[in-house]
Amino acid sequence: MAVREIKPGIYSVGAIDWDRRLFDELIPLSDGTSYNSYLIKGNEKIALIDTVDPTKTYELIDNLKKLNITNIDYVVANHAEQDHSGSIPKILELFPNAKVITNPKCKEMLKDLLLIPEDKFLVINDGDTISLGDRTFEFIFAPWVHWPETMFTYLREGKILFTCDFLGSHLATSDLFVTDEAKGYESAKRYYAEIMMPFRTSIKRHLERIKDIEVEIIAPSHGPVYTRPEFILNAYKDWISDVVKNEVVIPYISMHGSTGNMVTHFVNDLIGRGITVKPFNLTKTDIGELAIALVDAATIIIATPTVLAGPHPNIVYATYLANALRPKLRFASVIGSYGWGGRTLEMIKGMMGNLKVEILDPVIIKGFPKEEDFKALDILADNIHKKHKEHGI
Ligand SMILES: Cc1cc2nc3c(=O)[nH]c(=O)nc-3n(C[C@H](O)[C@H](O)[C@H](O)COP(=O)(O)O)c2cc1C
Ligand SMILES: [Fe+2]
Ligand SMILES: [Fe+2]
Repeated sequence: MAVREIKPGIYSVGAIDWDRRLFDELIPLSDGTSYNSYLIKGNEKIALIDTVDPTKTYELIDNLKKLNITNIDYVVANHAEQDHSGSIPKILELFPNAKVITNPKCKEMLKDLLLIPEDKFLVINDGDTISLGDRTFEFIFAPWVHWPETMFTYLREGKILFTCDFLGSHLATSDLFVTDEAKGYESAKRYYAEIMMPFRTSIKRHLERIKDIEVEIIAPSHGPVYTRPEFILNAYKDWISDVVKNEVVIPYISMHGSTGNMVTHFVNDLIGRGITVKPFNLTKTDIGELAIALVDAATIIIATPTVLAGPHPNIVYATYLANALRPKLRFASVIGSYGWGGRTLEMIKGMMGNLKVEILDPVIIKGFPKEEDFKALDILADNIHKKHKEHGI
C-alpha cells in the first residue's frame, strides 16, 4: 500500500493483500483484504498502531523508509492475532527503543505467540492515556471482538478511533476511505457475518461504550477507513439488534435430485407466501454467502440426503458453522431424502445446541418426493409463515 496521509502527521502505512482468498484457513475472502497500520507523529513521540501480516512486513518497512522514520517510540498492539501483530518483532529489531503498548492479556498472548520479551512492554489499563506530546492516546478495552484481549485506541486530537478488527472489512481497494458505501456495506457485512457475529453481546456493550466519544474517523485494521462513522455504526446496530427478517435460509445438497426436487418445490412454496428465500447449494456456494444470509434470517431449513447413515458431510460442515456463528435465528427444521435408514435428523438436531430455535416438524422422505411429500412441504411452509406472523416477523 502506498503511504497516505489521513490527517496531518497521521499516516496509513499498512499493506494491501490483493490475492488472499482464504483467511485463518477458514474464511473465504472474495475481495482480498488489507492489514492497516497507522503511524502517528507527535511532537515528542512517534507511535505505530498495529502492524501487518508477517507475509507483508517488507511493505510496512518500505513505507516507514519512505517517511524517513528513524525512530519509533511506541507500537500499540490492539490485538494479538498475527495478521496485526506478526510484524512487531521485526519493528522491535529495527527500532530497538520501541516499547509495545498493550493490555495485560494481550501482552501475555504476544509473549506466547511471538516470543516478544517481557521488557519490551508498556502495559496500560482500560481508560489509561499515553501522551505523544501534542497528541494523546486513550485506550478502551473491548474484549471479545473477536479474541479476549482486543482493545481500541482513541486519538483525542483528531478524534480518530482505531478499532483493529472491529468494524473492519476484508476488502482490497486502492481507496483509503470508504467512497463506495454500497461496496463498503457488503464487505463489512460479510466480515461481520464471518468473524464478529458470535460476539453480538460483547459488541452491544462496546457500541454503548463508544457512543459518548466524539469520533470523526473510524480506522479499522482491515479495509478502508470510515469518514462517516455513523455509516458503519448504524449498520452494526442493525446487524446486532434482536430483530430478524422474514427470511428463510436453506443450505442444501442433493446427490441424485430427490432432496433437490424438494428444495425447488419448497422455495416456491415460501415465495408464494411472501417470504424471502435464500437457498445455497453447498457444492457451489462460498460459505461466506451462507454466513451473510444468516445475519438477518428468522429461519433455517437444512436440506440433506442421508449419506452413510447421516447428513451429507458438506451439510455437517455448514450446520457446524451455522451453530458456531450463533446467528439470531428463531426457527429451524430439516428436510431431505433417504434410501433405507439412518440418523440424519437426530444428528443435525444434535449439532444445533447454540441456536435458540424452535424446531418445526421436519419432512424426511424415502426416495423421490411424491404427492404426499409435497403436501408435507406445503404444511411446513404454512407453519413457517404462521410462526413468522405470530412473532411479528
Ligand atoms: C454415497 C451414498 C451413501 C448413502 N448412504 C445412505 C445411508 O446410509 N442411509 C440411507 O438411508 N440412504 C443412503 N443413501 C441413499 C440416499 O440417501 C437416497 O438415495 C436419497 O434419496 C438421495 O437423495 P438425493 O437424490 O437428494 O441425493 C446413500 C446414497 C449414496 C449415494
Ligand atoms: Fe483477528
Ligand atoms: Fe484481523
